[in-house]
Amino acid sequence: MNTVETIVELQAEIKAARDAGKRIGFVPTMGNLHEGHMILIDQASEECDFVVASIFINPLQFNDIDDLGRYPRTLAADQEHLRDRDCDLLFFPSVDEMYPHGQDAQTTISVPVVSEGLCGDSRPGHFDGVATVVSKLFHMVQPDAAFFGEKDFQQLAVIRKMVDDLNLPFDVVGVPTCREENGLAMSSRNNYLTEDEKNTAGHIYRVLNEISEKIQSGEKNFAELCVLAKQELVGHGFTPDYVEVRDAKTLRPAVETDTDMVVLAAAILGKARLIDNLRINLKQ
Ligand code: PAJ
Repeated sequence: MNTVETIVELQAEIKAARDAGKRIGFVPTMGNLHEGHMILIDQASEECDFVVASIFINPLQFNDIDDLGRYPRTLAADQEHLRDRDCDLLFFPSVDEMYPHGQDAQTTISVPVVSEGLCGDSRPGHFDGVATVVSKLFHMVQPDAAFFGEKDFQQLAVIRKMVDDLNLPFDVVGVPTCREENGLAMSSRNNYLTEDEKNTAGHIYRVLNEISEKIQSGEKNFAELCVLAKQELVGHGFTPDYVEVRDAKTLRPAVETDTDMVVLAAAILGKARLIDNLRINLKQ
């Protein structure tokens, strides 16, 4: 697996693969790779012949400078993981390569409605930063398919909407969340948790499952379920940001007649802000 740092090298390698008739799969990341990222690489290599991963800690999507500064940077270990798992090319650009005219002069992409509420409220500008960098990467790589985790459900909805609205000609594939044994969704931010906190963190998934079970057995008062869930999280030492039931496609607040829903949660535990979600399909 080759690592390239410039757009010129990236595009030369991809052109050679495309000229050889290969289907290009793309997995954008911010590095500090764990099994949750690796299943995206696996899925990409199942569906494509040439897998491109990127590692870029995108300053545009961090609204907290400390969060950006402490984000783990583990290139050598990341390269090893990618080599083990059939990744063909790693793009590892600098901030100057991505934003040569400066971040403030960068044209931005804003995806309305799905970006609003949930993490959009607590992280202003975050999804504009995500949509902008992902759109740039899409134009550089021009993949046949791009792979994103369902763990970041709102992010996936934002990307799908952007690809649809801008008529980008490739598939966006959502990959189910990879979890620790206690249900905790894998995340680079789990590194900020102590061992005790990691055990406690499994409660987020438990609470989401409780809500899902109640809705499947006919409960319709979503707001009350979410209030109770937040109280339960507080009881376990979390500071909840939100717990909400939404329509899975549009992310608008769920109504009684909805059948394809998702319950999403964000909560702070110790030094980490954790997010998770669970799909609730009443048609099954
Ligand atoms: P990052 O947090 O590194 O995540 C990269 C991809 O891995 C995302 O699509 C994310 O949803 C997926 N992922 C992370 N943990 C996962 C898990 N436990 N199970 C399944 N998939 C998981 O998300 C970003 O980077 C950035 O916002 C990015 C899209 C790269 C734009 O900068």
